[in-house]
Amino acid sequence: MIAILGGSGLDRWPQLGTLTPQSVSTPYGEPAAPLLCGRIDGIAVCFLPRHGAAHSLPPHRINYRANLWALKQAGARAVVAVATVGSIPAHIPPGALVLPDQIVDYTHGREATFFDGDCLDDAGSRVEHIEFTEPYDAGLRAALLAAASDAGIALIDGATYAATQGPRLETRAEIDRLERDGCHIVGMTGMPEAALARELALPYACLAVVANRAAGRGGSSLLAEIEQHLAGGIAAAQRLLVAALPG
Ligand code: HPA
Repeated sequence: MIAILGGSGLDRWPQLGTLTPQSVSTPYGEPAAPLLCGRIDGIAVCFLPRHGAAHSLPPHRINYRANLWALKQAGARAVVAVATVGSIPAHIPPGALVLPDQIVDYTHGREATFFDGDCLDDAGSRVEHIEFTEPYDAGLRAALLAAASDAGIALIDGATYAATQGPRLETRAEIDRLERDGCHIVGMTGMPEAALARELALPYACLAVVANRAAGRGGSSLLAEIEQHLAGGIAAAQRLLVAALPG
């Protein structure tokens, strides 16, 4: 089963609307919403809107651990995370779809690991580390790129995702700093989500929907720009996801 984590603008999935939502609980608490598991074009999928069904959870209040655990428990073998972002360089316009390949994490104060020093492995060790050199799963990225190419949907291959704390948008100087750090897109939910998926050995990729130019890079009102571009970008992301589901 493929899990889809929905972000801003993707709190529901009409094709899954007739299915019974499954309320689940995890050792880390409740996920953001009941899981919506079923089939799209015959393929088993499980949809979870990370901000809650009514988009009520801000990025720093999302229970990322419960969300990922619930998907793993439901039988997910891969997670595609849809995330709304702002773009830093001019060549990535609002409305674009981007498949990032790197992350810089600027978040703080979030429950960011399952390995909190309370797990014993076979060797009796209490400290666990994951490799995170390549934070996104190569196979899942390749599948999304191939599906986009086959379906004629433009998908930018490779970008560094800056995960910021939110919920406020950034200052111009902060975006300047992210650019100096080598970041191309900026969003608020990419971490610790990606790291938690790796800790659970769940292949994970991020399908980023560019809603706006980042602060100081574009028009005068970021919020108006987000409003203007979000729905179109999300619709393209949904088309791509349906095209990418293994048939
Ligand atoms: N910054 C952070 N998160 C975002 C943005 C942004 O400009 N746009 C959409 N999510």
